[in-house]
Amino acid sequence: MRKIKVMTIFGTRPEAIKMAPVVCKLKEYNDDFDEVTVVTAQHREMLDQVLKIFKINPDYDLNIMKQRQTLDELTSNVLLHLGNILNKESPDIVLVHGDTTTTFAASVAAFYHKITIGHVEAGLRTWDKYSPFPEEMNRQMTDTLSDLYFAPTEESEMNLLKENHAQNKIFVTGNTAIDALKETVNENYHHKIMDLIAPNKRMILVTMHRRENQGKPMCQVFQVVRDVVDRYDDIEVIYPVHLNPAVQKVANEILGNHPRIHLIEPLDVVDFHNLAARSYFIMTDSGGIQEEAPSLGKPVLVLRNTTERPEGVKAGTLRLIGTEPSSVRKWMINLLTDSNEYQRMAEARNPYGDGEASRRILDAIAFKFGKKGVAQNRFE
Ligand code: UD1
Ligand code: UDP
Repeated sequence: MRKIKVMTIFGTRPEAIKMAPVVCKLKEYNDDFDEVTVVTAQHREMLDQVLKIFKINPDYDLNIMKQRQTLDELTSNVLLHLGNILNKESPDIVLVHGDTTTTFAASVAAFYHKITIGHVEAGLRTWDKYSPFPEEMNRQMTDTLSDLYFAPTEESEMNLLKENHAQNKIFVTGNTAIDALKETVNENYHHKIMDLIAPNKRMILVTMHRRENQGKPMCQVFQVVRDVVDRYDDIEVIYPVHLNPAVQKVANEILGNHPRIHLIEPLDVVDFHNLAARSYFIMTDSGGIQEEAPSLGKPVLVLRNTTERPEGVKAGTLRLIGTEPSSVRKWMINLLTDSNEYQRMAEARNPYGDGEASRRILDAIAFKFGKKGVAQNRFE
């Protein structure tokens, strides 16, 4: 029987981190699959960091990133460039991941070429059109166009069923973030940034980048972080700042030049996961970090009003605190001073599967294309 030709398309850091385990698994099972990797390079440096760690050499690199790129530019450039590649390669299935503009535009391109679409991390929802923006609609529109759904949890499967997607197209696989995490965290890992933190200090890890948080919400949060660091002299902050110039500017203006706030370049994923594993708690508006922290047993103050990851909130690890100064101050101080509350949130509970999501995705594809499940025959 001929091989199934699978084209993976991704473009940003989080897509790369969560697609890398799938790409590696497809390459491992190369008797059954012919894998073609396409990167849009919606991100450049932050994508390349991930490709290097997972030793992925893309077959096609659209290299589209521009400084301060707009959504219109991104969407049209992905569409313009992908058509020829889809014509030339004619894959059996295109795999996209998550909710970025690469995800959405690549699904539209595959649809125009009548190619089967598999959506990895399907079914996440806030049901709020502008929160997060544009990710909520990117994932809803991608799910509208998709043919196979790889839902990380039963909750995301339920969301898809509510939208009348057929049950036999949905596969609950776990989240490939956990597959990646299994590869990266090592107890003996040491990053030189940790030398900056005295052993008796508590380290708070911060990231913030979402479009809807840029401007006032971000300024408010950073100001509170600085105030709280001033008030508690046993805490230090490490913040690997996203390369978006809009984020860099505000972070440097408000958080720069403080002896206990370390603004650093984005870390590669191995460094970041290991640093997260050594943090006291995390403050973030990131999606991926909300999935990783419950496994690491690190409390997370989520700097957003909505989340598409309710599993982590139910598990007790995540607290949605928004970006209002009074709320951010209250919850930071709460975690710093209330050891019972801290312990409740710091218990490791992982709602995102056993780190075998990529294997299940391969099995589901094989099954749908009439082969026996290759990795474990799971879907027979
Ligand atoms: C994108 C995704 C968002 C995801 C985030 C992960 C969209 C609309 N947004 O947002 O869902 O959470 O990635 O980080 O798809 N830049 C660099 N180098 C890089 C990366 C970014 O210089 O390696 C700068 C560029 O000036 C770029 C800007 O950051 O124009 C914004 O990048 P963009 O991909 O448009 O938005 P993100 O906020 O990164
Ligand atoms: N991450 C990383 N280096 C950093 C910050 C984050 O490798 O300096 C990882 C993090 O572990 C997670 C992913 O990047 O896997 C999250 O990416 P991001 O926050 O940019 O996007 P989102 O998940 O919000 O879409």
